[in-house]
Amino acid sequence: MAKVFVALDFPSEAQAWQMAEKLLPVNPYLKVGLELFVAAGPAFLHRLTAAGAEVFLDLKFHDIPNTVAGAVRSSISLGARYVNIHCGGGEAMIRAAVEASTKEAERLGVKKPTLLGVTVLTSLDDQAVQQIGFPRSASAQVKHFVELAQECGLDGVVCSAEEIPLVKSLAGKNFITMVPGIRPLGSDKGDQKRTLTPAEAVLAGADCLVVGRPVTGAADPRLALSQILQEVAHS
Ligand code: C5P
Repeated sequence: MAKVFVALDFPSEAQAWQMAEKLLPVNPYLKVGLELFVAAGPAFLHRLTAAGAEVFLDLKFHDIPNTVAGAVRSSISLGARYVNIHCGGGEAMIRAAVEASTKEAERLGVKKPTLLGVTVLTSLDDQAVQQIGFPRSASAQVKHFVELAQECGLDGVVCSAEEIPLVKSLAGKNFITMVPGIRPLGSDKGDQKRTLTPAEAVLAGADCLVVGRPVTGAADPRLALSQILQEVAHS
């Protein structure tokens, strides 16, 4: 069954913990991104994992190979089960991250985390992609990065739901797709433009869904999450 990661996009540990406590009894998957990690730091990750959470550490590493390898090692020490890096960091950086992940997990005697690549941010359109200096359309650039990611040993990519068929056809059904932009029927789209319902994402082949505001902004977050889990289970 597809996993549903709830994005804990909060500016403080207190708010994030309050939400985590509500959600953990129904689902262990939580995403910690830049906003919360900068505010609450590694101690909060320890707190989450000690409470039974499976954490996706969404920090999108992009630096020289040595630095990214170190960041991946540190993520494993923190207990992150899903970690991501930017494919745009290049082959040497991706390979360094994969090697660091394998070796550090082995050294600590823990399961290797799922290492995902960020291809082209969904906030970028064709024009923005070309303005950066890539010569292709956004989708051609995604294709290029998926091939690079797979060749270098990444476990999957973070992508928009509409890219799932492309990713699976290029890299096979076992290559993991982590998909944000999920909106249950009737919920507010907010700033997301291309959205899919949980059922549509599952039918498209998504392995992991990322949901933020439809759960965290609901009057009853636990109920909202339970309804999404039901929809996923019956799709
Ligand atoms: O609140 P909402 O459901 O839109 O939250 C989606 C989460 O997924 C946020 O944490 C956002 O940063 C993240 N995300 C995204 N689009 C991407 C990558 C990550 O919305 N392409």
